[in-house]
Amino acid sequence: MPKQEFPFPMPNGWFCVTRVDDIQNGESKLFTFCEKEVVAFRTESGKVSVMDAYCGYSGINLAISGKVDGETINSPKHGIKWNIDGSCAEIGKDSGVPKEAMEVTTFSYPCQELNGFIWAWHHLLKEEPYFEIPAIDGFNGEDSKWGKEHHYEYHINTVLQEIAENDVDQAHFPKVHGSPSLPETEAIIDGIYRKTIAETLMNPNNDSVSEEFHVADPSMFTTTFTRESWGLGCVGLHMVNLPIDETTFGGEFIMINASCPVDNKNSTLRWSMRVTKDIEDELGMAIIDGIANGVLDDMPIWDHKSYVAQPILCDGDGPINKFRKWVSQFYSDPLQAR
Ligand SMILES: [Fe+2]
Repeated sequence: MPKQEFPFPMPNGWFCVTRVDDIQNGESKLFTFCEKEVVAFRTESGKVSVMDAYCGYSGINLAISGKVDGETINSPKHGIKWNIDGSCAEIGKDSGVPKEAMEVTTFSYPCQELNGFIWAWHHLLKEEPYFEIPAIDGFNGEDSKWGKEHHYEYHINTVLQEIAENDVDQAHFPKVHGSPSLPETEAIIDGIYRKTIAETLMNPNNDSVSEEFHVADPSMFTTTFTRESWGLGCVGLHMVNLPIDETTFGGEFIMINASCPVDNKNSTLRWSMRVTKDIEDELGMAIIDGIANGVLDDMPIWDHKSYVAQPILCDGDGPINKFRKWVSQFYSDPLQAR
C-alpha cells in the first residue's frame, strides 16, 4: 500500500504565527503560515500586522528587504509604504510609480494578540473570522496565583488534524507513552468548540518525566483533566485538584497549545504551561516536564504516518469518526478558492 498523503487543504481558523514577545516594536519577521509566506511586523507604536510577505506592487519580499517605518512597512525599491491593513499609505516621490498604484493592496490577515501569542485568521476562501478564541485565565497577566510560565516549541512533520486525532486515540497512551489512558467523557461539541473531561489517574514520575524532576513521593493521584478546543489552532488544558502535600489537594495546571499549519506536511506547536505556586516547587515541574517530553514519543510516528481515510474501529461510530466529523467543518472546498 503506498503512503497516502493528507487529502485536505489548509484548515480555516485562528492559528498561531509566533509569540507576542518574538516581535519587538519596529521589527519584522518571515513565517510560513498555511502554505503562504507572510511578514509579521510591529509598528513603532506597537501595533501588530500579519500580511502577505510579497509587496502587492513589486513582489519584493517585505520580510527580507522591507523595513518598518513608523506605522507602515516600507518596500525599498519604489518607496511604497503599506499600512497594517494592507492598504497603500504612500508612494516614493521620485519613484516613477503611477498614482494608480495607491489602489493596490497587499493581503493583510485578520490578527490579534491574546494569551501571549500572535494569532492570524486563515480562511481558504478569504472569508472573515466567524469565531473567536477566548482569553484564558493565567495567560493574560494574572500572576498572583500562578508560578513561572514555561514555553516549548515543536516542529512536527504532519498536519494538525493528525496531531489532534492522537488525543482521541485512547489506546496509544499506555502503548506509546507508558502512561495511564485518559478515560474521557463523551466530547461536548458546540460548533467550532469541543471539550472533553477525563478523571485521570496520574503517576507523577511516569516514563516521560526526566530524572531531575522526579518527585520524592511518587504516589499516584487522580485529577480532573479538561481539554477545550476552539477550532484546530487553539487548545486549552486544565488539571485541578492536584496534591499539594499528603493531605491537601487543590493545585492546578494550565496549558495552551497554540498551533500553526505550516504546509500540508508540517506544523508548529507552541506550548505555554503553568502551575499554581502551591505545587511549583516539586510536582508542578514533574507534570510540565512529563508533558513537554511526552510529545517526543509521538513524533517518530507522525514523521512516517500514512493517512487512513476509513479506519476500521471496534465500534463503528467510535470517537475518531466523531472527531473527524467535527474537524471536517474547518475545510473549505479548494475548488472554490480564488
Ligand atoms: Fe501521544
